[in-house]
Formats: sequence, C-alpha cells, structure tokens
Amino acid sequence: MSSQESGTRTIRPLPSPLDGTMTVPGDKSISHRAILFSAMAEGTSRLLGVLDSSDVRASIEAVQKLGATVTLEKQTDGSLAGGVEGWGAAGPKQPDGPIYCANSGTTARLLMGVLAPWDIEVRIEGDEHLSKRPMRRITAPLMMMGVNFEPAGAETLPITEHGTKNLRAITYDSPMASAQLKTAVLLAGVRANGVTELNEPSVSRNHTELMLPEYGVETTAGERTARVKGPACMHSAEIRVPGDPSSAAFIVCAALLKPGSAIQIENVSLNTARTGFLFTLERMGADVATRRTGSAGKEPFGVISACYTPGLHGCEIPGDKIASLVDEVPVLSLVAAHAHGITVFRNVEELRAKESDRLEAIVRGLALLGVDAWTEGDDLFIEGQPNLQVPEGLVFDSRSDHRLAMTWALVGLTGKVPVDVTDFGSVDVSYPDFLHDIVKLCH
Ligand code: S3P
Repeated sequence: MSSQESGTRTIRPLPSPLDGTMTVPGDKSISHRAILFSAMAEGTSRLLGVLDSSDVRASIEAVQKLGATVTLEKQTDGSLAGGVEGWGAAGPKQPDGPIYCANSGTTARLLMGVLAPWDIEVRIEGDEHLSKRPMRRITAPLMMMGVNFEPAGAETLPITEHGTKNLRAITYDSPMASAQLKTAVLLAGVRANGVTELNEPSVSRNHTELMLPEYGVETTAGERTARVKGPACMHSAEIRVPGDPSSAAFIVCAALLKPGSAIQIENVSLNTARTGFLFTLERMGADVATRRTGSAGKEPFGVISACYTPGLHGCEIPGDKIASLVDEVPVLSLVAAHAHGITVFRNVEELRAKESDRLEAIVRGLALLGVDAWTEGDDLFIEGQPNLQVPEGLVFDSRSDHRLAMTWALVGLTGKVPVDVTDFGSVDVSYPDFLHDIVKLCH
C-alpha cells in the first residue's frame, strides 16, 4: 500500500508504561548506501540487517534496473539479508525506462552521483512530494565535474542525467551541511581522475566516508572535509547495518513522555553524527543514556536507554548541531512542547525542504495542542507547557511525511485521549512496524 492510498488512523493511548528491551529496524541511510555501493562494486557483496521499507526498496529497484542482481531476502526479524552483485568496471546498463525513486530523496540524490561517471542517459522521477524537493544542490557540483542534466538548470525532478566517462575531480565548498550532497559528489569522485574533495560548513552524517573504504576506495573522513581518490575500482564488501537512531528517537521520546516507562534499545547506531537528539534530550534534563557494545565496520553501535522524565526544561540547539539531529526536530519539538520554558532550534531552514515543509507542520501541529511555536527567520521557537492537556478529537495532518506521522502519533500514544493522524501509512518509508513495536513494549 503506498502512503497516498493509506488513510487516516486513530491512535489510542498506550494501555500501560513502555517497559522492556527491543531493537529497531536497520538504519535507513546506511541501508541505502550498502545497496548503492554494492551495485557499483565488482563481485557479490553480502548485506545483513538492511531496512525493509518503501524508501530502501526504491534504491533496490533502481540498482536492479541498472543491471545489479539483488538477492536480498526477508528475515524473521523483518530485515533484509543476502547478496548484491554489482556492475563493477563494466558499468551500469542503460535502463529501458525512467527510474522511479518514489518518496526517497536519498535514492534520487545519491543515484545522481552513482550515474555520473558512465555514458548513459537516465531519467530520474519521484512521487508528488519528492518532485517538489530541491535538486539543484546536487546537479550544480556534478555539472562542474562534467555531467549534463536536462532540462539544464532544473530545480526539481523529473531530470534526465547524461553521465560522462571523462569526469573531472573537483574541490567543492558545499553551501550546506548535507550528507546527500556530499555523498553524490564523492560517489562521482570515485571514478574521476584525481582527488575529489568536499568541504562543508558544519558536520553532516559520515556514513559514506566510513563505508567507502570497505569497498576499497581510498577515502579521508575529516571533521568538515571528505576526500576520495579516483579512479578507484570498488570491490565487494560485507556490511552489517545497525539499528536506525532516527527510528529509535520515537521510542525514546515516547518513553520520556509516558509516565512510568523504562526502555532499552539494543544494536542502534551510536554514530555521533546521528545522535544529536540524545545530547539535546540530556540537556533538557531527560533520563537517557548510551552504552557502546561494538562496531559494524567503522560504525559504532550499542544500547540506548530512556526513562520517563517529568520536569524537562527547554534548551537552545545551535545551528552547527542541527545536521546531527535534522530528522529528529519534529519529535524533539513535541518533547519541547511538554518542557518548562522555551526551546530554540537555530538555523533549521533545511526543514522546509524535507519530505514536507516540516517547520510549518511543527508550528501548525503544536498550535492544535495549544502550544505556542513560531519561526523567526530560520530559527524555530517552542514555548513548552509542562501540564499540557491534549484536547479531544484532534486530527493531525501528516502531509504524507513519515516523521510527522510518527511524531503526531506520539501525542495519542503517550497521552490520555486518542488522536487521528492522516496518511499514517507514510511510516512505511522508514519504520513500517512502528506501531506494532511500540505497543509490544506495553505488557
Ligand atoms: C540523509 C541525509 C539527510 C537526512 C536524510 C538522509 C542521508 O538529508 O535528512 O533523511 O542518508 O544522507 P540532507 O543530506 O538533505 O541533509
């Protein structure tokens, strides 16, 4: 069922506190990369713990259309595991039609880098939401490397990409901290002649830099600089995908808000480029902790624990920390709505360009709760209400955005009255079993 077909869902209060230990599905960012990088490599890569969601399926279908052989199978824990045989030095095949990326910005943007070094012509399409999201940020640096796009200067999908085997390595000063942009440029750089370097204004997630060496690419992962040395022949790799901290964030925040709760989430990525939400919650006074238990390749993972915390207080999140929690701003805003005092997220303009305009959605959704939230320039302010009473009969518009659907669902799950959430099926994008998993924690 696509997110558009699935309708409004009534979300009822959980019958008891959240209690116990669980795991969350595989990390979405790492799953996309494992599939795309394996498709680019020579030989058969072995993948474990891959997220099975509509977004990741868009990447799987894309690489299949381009000639990779994917033999991932559903496991009893709900993940995908198996092989991906890549096209390696032969390159991808010319697909016989457009590549449809559905709702997945990561698929569309990373694919542009994957296709850049090959003499093929590929039309990239997306659903109505993805077709509104900015693409110029990706096409601009790739054009500097020698790639052509049609229409030239297109801001949004559909876009047809004409790759080239004569890619130029570049040094690019990125105008924003975006891991998707960084990855597209680095992936193109893998087959360009020389060192491709990308500098960013603040640190974005570094999964690409950590994973490319597993496939044999000489890569530098600096604080705000990443480099690859091309041309490189990628070889197959074995990748184990840890749990997704962005999915874990919803469970953690539910536990903080539901009286009596105490939970542990095992096998979650503890990559600090992703766990900014935990630092923020700690600063708000939340009872959260992490314990590292191992690493998958260079990705650290471990246990996150969280307990119900009354008496949370607001805090200020500086602009240079936003990339480390960019997908968690909606759910952190809901926690801030229950906290004492004002919470300020600085420089969150990127939220306007996500799966929906999340800034506007947060302000409107919190207004339904009677919570004052507003923007000033690119900053988001939330004035919390520690004794927030949720009115009956609220209907939240998810805007077919998975992270908004789960955020507003927490209002019903952790409160005393049910709420309705429109297009709840959009959770399929990142966490199809979200409701099932959270209900299981109530014995
Ligand atoms: C992602 C990077 C982030 C994030 C998105 C996934 C990635 O986007 O919001 O959900 O996998 O690289 P930007 O690169 O646009 O910041």
